Amino acid sequence: MRILVTGGCGFIGANFLLKYVPQLPDVQFLNLDALTYAGNPLSLQSIADRENYDFAHINLANDLEVTNAVEGFQPTHIVHFAAETHVDRSIKYPRDFLNSNVIGTFNLLEAARQVWGDNLSDKVFHHVSTDEVYGELGETGMFEETTPYSPNSPYSASKASSDHMVRAWNHTYGLPTKITNCSNNYGPYQFPEKLIPVMSLNALAGKPLPVYGKGENIRDWLFVGDHAEAIFRVMTDGPVGETFNIGGNAERTNLQVVHGICQAVAEISNQPVEKIQDQITFVTDRPGHDFRYAIDTTKIKNELGWQPSQSFEEGLHQTVKWYSENPNWIEAVKSGEYLKWINEHYQGESN
Ligand SMILES: NC(=O)c1ccc[n+]([C@@H]2O[C@H](COP(=O)([O-])OP(=O)(O)OC[C@H]3O[C@@H](n4cnc5c(N)ncnc54)[C@H](O)[C@@H]3O)[C@@H](O)[C@H]2O)c1
Repeated sequence: MRILVTGGCGFIGANFLLKYVPQLPDVQFLNLDALTYAGNPLSLQSIADRENYDFAHINLANDLEVTNAVEGFQPTHIVHFAAETHVDRSIKYPRDFLNSNVIGTFNLLEAARQVWGDNLSDKVFHHVSTDEVYGELGETGMFEETTPYSPNSPYSASKASSDHMVRAWNHTYGLPTKITNCSNNYGPYQFPEKLIPVMSLNALAGKPLPVYGKGENIRDWLFVGDHAEAIFRVMTDGPVGETFNIGGNAERTNLQVVHGICQAVAEISNQPVEKIQDQITFVTDRPGHDFRYAIDTTKIKNELGWQPSQSFEEGLHQTVKWYSENPNWIEAVKSGEYLKWINEHYQGESN
């Protein structure tokens, strides 16, 4: 196998590479990443010098660079993580989401089609997507693979668009594609703009914990290591042309998540939980905030035997502990140190 990963310097891509690069020394990996604000090469320091790992600083919106990279590496498998991913940012800067998520995916599909030609028997194009493409649920029901798409934010609309293209490239050109739609991930190396890292860091630092609305929105949560394993399972064992939903069977309101973080911080720092809960404040909700997401994982469980290994409470404790034990990574990200590092190391390159 030769696995081309896109967006490997982001949260989930980095966890995928940190797990599989050391575990599969006979497999060559190439990581294509534009190093946006969310891409942090420091996360991959422990594998950066391995012989089976290489990195290329490439923006997927640049079709020529993408084709050259795919041509040069000759992958058997492509795992496409790269995307703009933060809903709040998509409301402010929707064009970035179209460029990376829609045009970027189109360029990668075309590069794969051009480079692989008719030689498709041992190839896989795995597109990593989100449950947000299905829209929102009321109090009941779950997203199944057959649930009609109904994206509500610029982020989910751009991901839905990329999913449709991947499906169409399979149907029209016979490209061997697979799609996974996953619920909210949490774990180490997540950029501190999303709910769990923001709340964990604020709780540890004694700062306010700002919860949107009344904190009643519900999400399903999956530990990132479990997501990496599910992707690998679908990539290797899933039938071509299929979609699999991935979830953690862990529905929680945002307020429950924040209370869980307060509990973990109380245990780690040996403080009374009430003291940390006092830091919770309620702020104006984001526009168009989807009420509830829930994932039916019957298909991946029955057909591929995958299910999450980590309970939400264990995974959350482990995650908060990781943030408390890695102040260097946090400081580098928050102080813009890694942006400086990127400028020093990648000056003069494209993008
Ligand atoms: N985080 C979640 O909870 C979650 C849940 C389900 C699905 N997903 C999907 O998983 C994938 C990875 O998510 P994440 O949380 O790791 O994202 P992230 O924002 O942490 O990282 C995204 C990575 O993609 C890179 N990137 C962005 N635009 C690029 C471009 N034009 N060219 C090349 N690289 C580019 C960034 O530099 C960064 O390294 C995304 O496709 C996302 O939609 C995420």
